[in-house]
Amino acid sequence: MSTSRQFTAEPAAGPDVAAAPEHAIAVKRGFWSSLNPRITEWRGLRVWVIGASSGIGEATATALHARGAQVLVSARNAVSLNAFVKRHSGNASAGVGAQAWPLDVTDAAAVKATAAAILTQGPLDLVLYCDGHYREMRATDIDMADLKQHLAINYTGVLHVIDAVLPTMTARGAGHLSVISSVAGFRGLPKSLAYGPTKAALTNLAENLYLDLEPLGLGVSVVHPGFVQTPLTAQNNFTMPALITPEQAAESMIAGWAKGDFDIHYPKRFTRVMKLLRLLPYRAYFPAVRRATGL
Ligand SMILES: NC(=O)c1ccc[n+]([C@@H]2O[C@H](COP(=O)([O-])OP(=O)(O)OC[C@H]3O[C@@H](n4cnc5c(N)ncnc54)[C@H](OP(=O)(O)O)[C@@H]3O)[C@@H](O)[C@H]2O)c1
Repeated sequence: MSTSRQFTAEPAAGPDVAAAPEHAIAVKRGFWSSLNPRITEWRGLRVWVIGASSGIGEATATALHARGAQVLVSARNAVSLNAFVKRHSGNASAGVGAQAWPLDVTDAAAVKATAAAILTQGPLDLVLYCDGHYREMRATDIDMADLKQHLAINYTGVLHVIDAVLPTMTARGAGHLSVISSVAGFRGLPKSLAYGPTKAALTNLAENLYLDLEPLGLGVSVVHPGFVQTPLTAQNNFTMPALITPEQAAESMIAGWAKGDFDIHYPKRFTRVMKLLRLLPYRAYFPAVRRATGL
């Protein structure tokens, strides 16, 4: 199948993602084309990494800074964010740097005010949502406050961010929005009562955002990690298959943005199995999950 629909991307000059409407050109996209404008050159780009005080977000902020991007880091832990900025201030040069913007994403007004202050300084080329909250939960032991906490951080927080940044990004007709979901959102899993549904919602949200924003010249991607060694997974008391480091996760995401992928998943040896499981009929899926987890 091929499509002849038109989309705007690729600036006349400068990095792919920095396209402004007046520079945009119509590009024909075929079935095998990249789904997003590719981001291959990070020098001079401005990226906002939300959830950058630890884990995948911190590693990605570090990797993007090393490639020459100006990195704005957010999370609640201001001490960690300031340490990040301090670590990277030695590399500061024209157009490159790091800034800390402490933030609680559950506070819609704070997200809006922070985004407005950041956007006053200049446009954003990438907004990466890495915030996450995860605690095991089963239907036999429901903790309503923690259920709501999962929803607030993993899903509603993203809504706060897109509400704050999208008007400026769509007016500019450029920029990329990336959200970290999880393979745990593909299908129901044991102990994932609180976490899994928020990630399923996030993946669905990203698909909707892509359909609406791609014709306007924006990039949208959703990230589906397998197991990554971070504070979030430190509580797991089982052997995590195909476990990778946050640095490896960051490199996979940068490779995915360079290819213009919509669905960035890693490590492939694990995520491909999870994708296959997604295709099974329930009468085969449920027993397979019970066998694999013993739960
Ligand atoms: N690690 C894995 O195996 C794995 C697998 C699949 C998906 N993921 C997803 O990957 C993303 C990153 O997770 P990670 O593993 O790197 O865990 P992590 O190290 O615990 O990072 C989570 C980040 O979210 C921030 N955060 C939490 N609540 C917040 C709030 N209310 N406001 C602002 N920031 C908040 C944390 O910072 P503060 O506490 O300082 O606020 C931290 O920077 C998450 O979306 C997670 O669900 C992880």
